[in-house]
Amino acid sequence: MAPNARASLNTRRRFLAPFAGQAVNPPPIWLMRQAGRYLPEYRATRDEAGSFLALCYRPELAAEVTLQPIRRYGFDAAILFADILIVPDALGQEVRFETGEGPRLDPITDEMALSRLEPSGTEAKFGLICETVQRLRQDLPEETALIGFCGAPWTVATYMVGGRGSPDQADARAWAYRDPDGFQKLIDILVEVSIDYLSGQVKAGADALQIFDSWAGSLPDNEFARWVIDPTRHMVDALKARHPGVPIIGFPRGAGASTAEFVTATGVEGVSCDTSMPLCAMRELAELDIVVQGNLDPLLLVAGGDALDRRIDETLAAMKGRRHIFNLGHGIVPQTPPENVARLVERIRSVA
Ligand code: CP3
Repeated sequence: MAPNARASLNTRRRFLAPFAGQAVNPPPIWLMRQAGRYLPEYRATRDEAGSFLALCYRPELAAEVTLQPIRRYGFDAAILFADILIVPDALGQEVRFETGEGPRLDPITDEMALSRLEPSGTEAKFGLICETVQRLRQDLPEETALIGFCGAPWTVATYMVGGRGSPDQADARAWAYRDPDGFQKLIDILVEVSIDYLSGQVKAGADALQIFDSWAGSLPDNEFARWVIDPTRHMVDALKARHPGVPIIGFPRGAGASTAEFVTATGVEGVSCDTSMPLCAMRELAELDIVVQGNLDPLLLVAGGDALDRRIDETLAAMKGRRHIFNLGHGIVPQTPPENVARLVERIRSVA
């Protein structure tokens, strides 16, 4: 039996129960960016690697930082340690992470520049990431699910075109308006390589996949349909054909009122909601026969105390009886006190 088929039948992995149609109480928990700078042991391993990207490409160290939050908190799922910008890096558009400044790439701003990309040359770098997945499947506790991931084509394109993060994704939006056919070629390349990349992660042992579309919210509805929904649907269709039974979670951050359409049109089995999604809207999304993940404000994990406890309780009460996975609405921030994460896990597991 393929490793993924065995894993998805593994009822010991509570994380997978909601995808099999079961609402579990308390809900499974994991947190976006659960491995990262808020943990001293992460900072030590990152220093050992020398840089963030070097850490991503050293399977034994990447596996180690993936395991660190599992050891501390016993989350129900581990997420592969890598980054959404591995894809452009593997395509030959070299990515640099400068300390305190975020990612930098030499921007690709028109169709001509697409010739710089080498979709057939991704194997070595993807291979290293898949080796991390393989190690993890060996080293993780049997009851912990393993989530593979990549960035959605639209969000990855915003970094490739802008050359860095930006508040409004103006460069990618402008290209998409100016020359939709040219921009489509970039999106098509990303769809194809991302399918192969995620498929490789499943073959290496990932139990579920998440597609991060962090900048989905910057597009008006017709553009959202073309650059967020369509590419995601293509990926979901291809992955379902290759790996039926491996759940896919979409994270169309900021999609707001378009979230339900995203869910029904893409065929994802789960949707991760950002912090601005009202709890009553999350409950409604759960009626679409999917798993809903989210959506605590990461800053509540910085604040801690009563404010944190109250919102945990409200979230649990709102989602009780639904197929819910507890998570944040966005990634853990570096200034988070690790003891607040422990408090969160304890409260969810005791109150629910
Ligand atoms: O624990 C996990 O969640 C798994 C690993 C993971 C990372 N990035 C590690 C990381 C995942 C799933 C991501 C996703 C990611 N990366 C997204 C989508 C989710 C989101 O946050 O919206 C995006 C947009 C990126 C791109 C990216 N990577 C940026 C903009 C930055 C710089 C900002 C920052 O926090 O430093 C990164 C770096 C990054 N990716 C770090 C980590 C742990 C910090 C790097 C360091 O150690 O200095």
